[in-house]
Amino acid sequence: MAVPPIVASIAALRARLAAERRNGARIGFVPTMGALHDGHLSLVRETQNRADKVVVSIFVNPTQFAPHEDFDRYPRTLEADAEKLAAAGGTDLIFAPSVAEMYPQGFATKIDVGGPSHGLETDFRPHFFSGVATVVAKLLLAVMPEVATFGEKDYQQLLVVRRMAADLGLATEIFGAPIVRETDGLAMSSRNAYLQPDDRRVAGQLNVVLKRVIAALHNGEPILAAEAEGKRALLEAGFASVDYVAVRHATTLAPLDSLHHPARVLAAAKVGNTRLIDNMAV
Ligand code: PAF
Repeated sequence: MAVPPIVASIAALRARLAAERRNGARIGFVPTMGALHDGHLSLVRETQNRADKVVVSIFVNPTQFAPHEDFDRYPRTLEADAEKLAAAGGTDLIFAPSVAEMYPQGFATKIDVGGPSHGLETDFRPHFFSGVATVVAKLLLAVMPEVATFGEKDYQQLLVVRRMAADLGLATEIFGAPIVRETDGLAMSSRNAYLQPDDRRVAGQLNVVLKRVIAALHNGEPILAAEAEGKRALLEAGFASVDYVAVRHATTLAPLDSLHHPARVLAAAKVGNTRLIDNMAV
């Protein structure tokens, strides 16, 4: 399969999409930071089911990384990514802008979303969601898709983007696609590439512990006790540190004191130097 065309400027992207729209195409969009894996390819398939033409963006967004985080070493593999998208099929256009295209000299806008961005990731990565919201808003305004797909793997991010799209009246449906997992249940992530073999074994326990937390809740264990037990189990499994194991309202992420609402259990923990996140419906 031929590699999809790659455009680097917003002007070129808009010109191509205007032509598609004149032909009546419904545009779908998958924003990524590249280093593509099967999880991303499943986002493309989900989008293909909801649109006539699919745009994938590949942009490692500097504003969502803190100075001490992995922006510099984040894998940048545009050629391999384009080949993966070609082999999988379903991508019609790749948008791979430079940092200068997305953040030209003098760029001074920042989008801060309240609501679901409070707590959890924000307690540990305070800069993260304003970086994500700002770049996603800019990408959505560049592509103007009918539908954009975000993985449930980054569950809080999905809710933040949904909140932003609703609040700003963006004409894009935000679709949340299910997590794709390795055979041992580890949620697929570009950062899994950092894991050394021993760490990889430990990483596979994150989803096992989340399932145990859910089973304990279903057996009537109080939420606080189940969360504490989940944390303890992760440390015992070999995680170096646990940022949170939290049972939250599935659509607002508000803390819960009972399971009378749809709930989600979310966790973030470090194995070696690699920080992993995962979540499941309770
Ligand atoms: O989930 C990601 O890969 C990124 O946070 C996103 C949505 C592409 C924004 O940079």
